[in-house]
Amino acid sequence: MRLQRNVTCGELRAKDIDREVILAGWVRNRRDHGGVHFVDLCDRYGITQVRFDPGQEAILEGLKSEYVIALRGKVEARPEGQINADRPTGEVEVKVLEVEVLNTSKTPPFEVQEEIEAKEDTRLKYRFVDLRRRPLAEAMVFRSRVTQIIREVFHDEDFVDIETPLLTKTTPEGARDFIVPSRLQPGMVYALPQSPQLFKQVLMVSGLDRYYQICKCLRDEDLRADRQPEFTQLDMEMSFVRPDDVFAVVEKTLQRLWKELKGVDLPLPFPRMSYAEAMARFGIDKPDTRFGLELVDMSDLAATTGFKVFSGAVASGGSVRAIRVPGGASMPRKKVDALEKVAKEYGARGLAWVKWNEDGFQGPVGKFLQESELHPMLERAGAEPGDLLVFVADRDAVVFAALAHVRLHLGRTLDLIDESRTDCLWVVDFPLFEYDEEAGHWSAMHHMFTMPKEPLPAKGEEGDLSGVLGDLYDLVVNGVEMGSGSIRIHRPEVQRRVFELVNLSEDDVEAKFGWFLRALEYGAPPHGGIALGLDRLVMVMLGRDNLREVIAFPKNSRGVCPLTESPSEPLGDALDVLGLRFVGVASDDAPQDA
Ligand code: AMO
Ligand code: AMP
Repeated sequence: MRLQRNVTCGELRAKDIDREVILAGWVRNRRDHGGVHFVDLCDRYGITQVRFDPGQEAILEGLKSEYVIALRGKVEARPEGQINADRPTGEVEVKVLEVEVLNTSKTPPFEVQEEIEAKEDTRLKYRFVDLRRRPLAEAMVFRSRVTQIIREVFHDEDFVDIETPLLTKTTPEGARDFIVPSRLQPGMVYALPQSPQLFKQVLMVSGLDRYYQICKCLRDEDLRADRQPEFTQLDMEMSFVRPDDVFAVVEKTLQRLWKELKGVDLPLPFPRMSYAEAMARFGIDKPDTRFGLELVDMSDLAATTGFKVFSGAVASGGSVRAIRVPGGASMPRKKVDALEKVAKEYGARGLAWVKWNEDGFQGPVGKFLQESELHPMLERAGAEPGDLLVFVADRDAVVFAALAHVRLHLGRTLDLIDESRTDCLWVVDFPLFEYDEEAGHWSAMHHMFTMPKEPLPAKGEEGDLSGVLGDLYDLVVNGVEMGSGSIRIHRPEVQRRVFELVNLSEDDVEAKFGWFLRALEYGAPPHGGIALGLDRLVMVMLGRDNLREVIAFPKNSRGVCPLTESPSEPLGDALDVLGLRFVGVASDDAPQDA
């Protein structure tokens, strides 16, 4: 390299006119303006327009898209009318005096520009080119600022940054473990952590009092836009605390992040809502509170109607709930059918509806209900002429899931969501247990280490555990589950009882968690904490809708990294030295597309 850059592509301004400078970067966007040629020279910092005058064609000949060059040139004012106000460097251009080609490039599979049409897998395979695109590069820089500010806050708050192991034993968080066979201990495996949960609790037993870590978590589960098999948590744990103490640290962190990176003042404290209220009003434990369309319970009114779908659902212990869509009577039939499709995706058998038009009622509910049955429902929903009401009748779980997603669909398609808002919400008082129909026993709703809010039922008096609340909380931001945490069980006998209630045998407990119970037996202080999804935090702050837009090297929806082509067949004698052989997988466990 002969020419050593002395300015970046993002920094030249009018005050630099007449300076001779050396720039380095990638060649993009060549344009011919009647003999005068322009090229955008780009780097992480920005774009500088460089000019080749007639007579310099020979130099230009040798430059193609994405070549890496250094150039010496003179900063000049752009002629009147050619100033680009959208670009910080838009007042100037650089007249080229000398060029050094530092490297050539193959023609990239897609152009390096803001918006591209390329397939996801192409983008991931050529991630090194994709990351040159401004939205992605900016997300990386933004993310780095986020972690820097987080570290400042936690340092100020006297937290200790402690690394916990990756090669370890199971830490269940509701997914499958990735396992790593051991060469030194033949026949044995490590599990990769689904979270540092057990280690952070042990650190509290050790008296470290305040721990945090920005760490990788690994979970073998089906993937979605907001889920990666390998993701990052901002994980923390504190001793001798109540939920309020945990909330305060998280609130302070988010307030600093939004203030410094977005210039937004988040009002503190964040509002709180019980799980029961969130379900009743929004049908979901991570409500997007930026718009209305809340659920209305019609069960008592529906129970006595002649419409079997309604009365039957209530009679068998379910419910009938509705959403009122103001002005929705003018919604075309196709859009109402689209709502029914959403409801069915979430398990509903249908979506009953009624439009209140000038000339009366229209739709199945109007048809199947007497007006005397319909009127109290309209009144309860606060309906007016011109409105649409949609209903789902089923088991509570189905009614909630279906209407929650119908509501979100309506919010999006009717443009009801104020994107400029940031709604942070603590959802509290979750049930500790949920019934796992498939397994036929109770399991932990969050994880098994959460403190019950009330004494657990004695042996032989288990029965229905759905009413047992845990000291559990979720942080929800704009309808995204951003974090989850709890006050933990610090008494070994309570922990053993919870293991029992979720159907773990004594042998299982000893094999999986014996080591952890031992730690609780040696002076565990009361403690609690939370983990925030860092990728999700950055995604929401940047208003992106996929985690892959804020992770440098993500996996695709099949868990594949097209860049490195992993996972791949084991190389060389990797399996032999471990004494392993593939014998195929049972079809039930075969992976499915997300
Ligand atoms: P939980 O499993 O709820 O709790 O995870 C905490 C937060 O991590 C994020 N998250 C994910 N992000 C991307 N891809 C995934 N597959 C993924 N899974 C989870 C979410 C979630 O809210 N040990 C507990 C925390 C605690 O109790 O302190 C835990 O891991 O934003
Ligand atoms: P059916 O009797 O199945 O033709 O349904 C009559 C109307 O009720 C249709 O508009 C269905 O979409 C609706 N419907 C059916 N089952 C349910 C349900 N469980 N909840 C709400 N609406 C339903």
